Amino acid sequence: MLIKPPADIDPSEITPRNVYEARRTFLRQAAALGLAGTMLPHATAQTASAAPVTEQGKLAALPGKSSTLSTTDKLTPHKDVVTYNNYYEFGTDKHQPAQYAHRLRTRPWSVMIEGEVKNKGPMNIEDLLKLAPMEERIYRMRCVEGWSMVIPWVGYSLAELMKRVEPTSKAKYVAFTTAMQPDTMIGLRIPALEWPYVEGLRMDEAMHPLTLLTFGLYGEVLPNQNGAPVRLVVPWKYGFKSIKSIDKIVLMETQPKTSWNVAAAHEYGFYSNVNPTVSHPRWSQATERRIGEDGFLAPKRKTLPFNGYAEQVAGLYKGMDLKKFY
Ligand code: MTE
Repeated sequence: MLIKPPADIDPSEITPRNVYEARRTFLRQAAALGLAGTMLPHATAQTASAAPVTEQGKLAALPGKSSTLSTTDKLTPHKDVVTYNNYYEFGTDKHQPAQYAHRLRTRPWSVMIEGEVKNKGPMNIEDLLKLAPMEERIYRMRCVEGWSMVIPWVGYSLAELMKRVEPTSKAKYVAFTTAMQPDTMIGLRIPALEWPYVEGLRMDEAMHPLTLLTFGLYGEVLPNQNGAPVRLVVPWKYGFKSIKSIDKIVLMETQPKTSWNVAAAHEYGFYSNVNPTVSHPRWSQATERRIGEDGFLAPKRKTLPFNGYAEQVAGLYKGMDLKKFY
């Protein structure tokens, strides 16, 4: 197949072969399960889950104090943020999570804390919501596929939780795991990735104030397709580091496994910092298309080192060869 730059092709074409080959099987299985007809508008879809919803079926408000860590870039329209998603547990096409994730049960929910910490054990989502004051953080998000969005997230720095669980001196990394609900996550039947979805950060990355433990967007609790009830957002890294629907956090002495690195180690490293000078083996990372703003024919905008957050985070990687640690 002729390799074309991402601007000219559907982003789903640049996913690894096993992923796009999985799509057909997924659609066949969805049809067999009678899911094909369950496409619901965003707000209505949420009523099917146990996420906090109002009587009108709208997502519950989750306001946050606005933060100085926010960008002033123009926001990506809400409809794009909640319908153009990557959440492979609900299918590998961008529009499938919005169709199928209403089935995800987000209550009761707890996050298990394990490993090198003084305070181990399950943390109830209601307690997590109250652990620190919520902030609204408008972050640029850059997907490895060559598109970007600007999203007003609601949450607090992951560091708040880290301080509360008290890591031991042996804790050098933090590992995150997405919940597995085989009856609601139809994508788990397809080996697009090794399940459950896992991600990891180095301790100093996890403690950086920009790293957001996220519960909402656009002033409401997270829609399921965006990773309800709690996800990570790491704005200077490619989008896949921002793991959704977390149910386990383990503090570790050694570097944890990450899903995309397991799937294709030569394409996706542990660090995955946005870097316009390090190409993906199959396409350049020098430019991007802003969803909702830049049409397919518009000139692409330049991708910035660390997604524009270099001033805040470049110091974390001082002395490291970022071509080697991609
Ligand atoms: N988390 C899980 N559990 N499963 C996924 O497939 N996709 C990742 C990340 N987190 C993914 C995930 C990728 S590739 C991206 S770009 C972002 O979620 C997309 O987040 P969004 O849909 O809220 O924009």
